[in-house]
Amino acid sequence: MLDPLAAAALAVRENAHAPFSKFLVGAALEDSTGRVHTGCNVENATYGLTVCAERVAIFKAISEGLKPRQFRRMAVAADAPSLTPPCGACRQILWEFCGDIEILLVNPRGETETVRMRDLFPRPFDDSFL
Ligand code: THU
Repeated sequence: MLDPLAAAALAVRENAHAPFSKFLVGAALEDSTGRVHTGCNVENATYGLTVCAERVAIFKAISEGLKPRQFRRMAVAADAPSLTPPCGACRQILWEFCGDIEILLVNPRGETETVRMRDLFPRPFDDSFL
């Protein structure tokens, strides 16, 4: 049985706007109340303005006024030979808003792996340095 959070990431992946890379990504973020916030990657012809699925999900949750801004886990769905982890930029944003949460990687074949943010992002820069 596929975890519902993984299923949500796979479903929103279908909304990806990825005409340039053709690499569709979906993200589903579970908050502390159990509500799920989803996002897909949105590409741009300038390439550099592309926003990843993970950041779309986080920014949607924040901009909708979620309180408290607390999160339990995120699922990330992509279709590649290896299960696909968040990119470096997304790891920084994930750390800022979610801290050491579990990230559930999934592909369309239903293969999954769970990794922790502290392992993906072992020596983070955060507001403790400011
Ligand atoms: N992408 C994501 O949405 N999340 C990641 O963590 C990795 C990369 C997107 C960005 C771009 O639209 C496409 O995948 C190829 O890099």
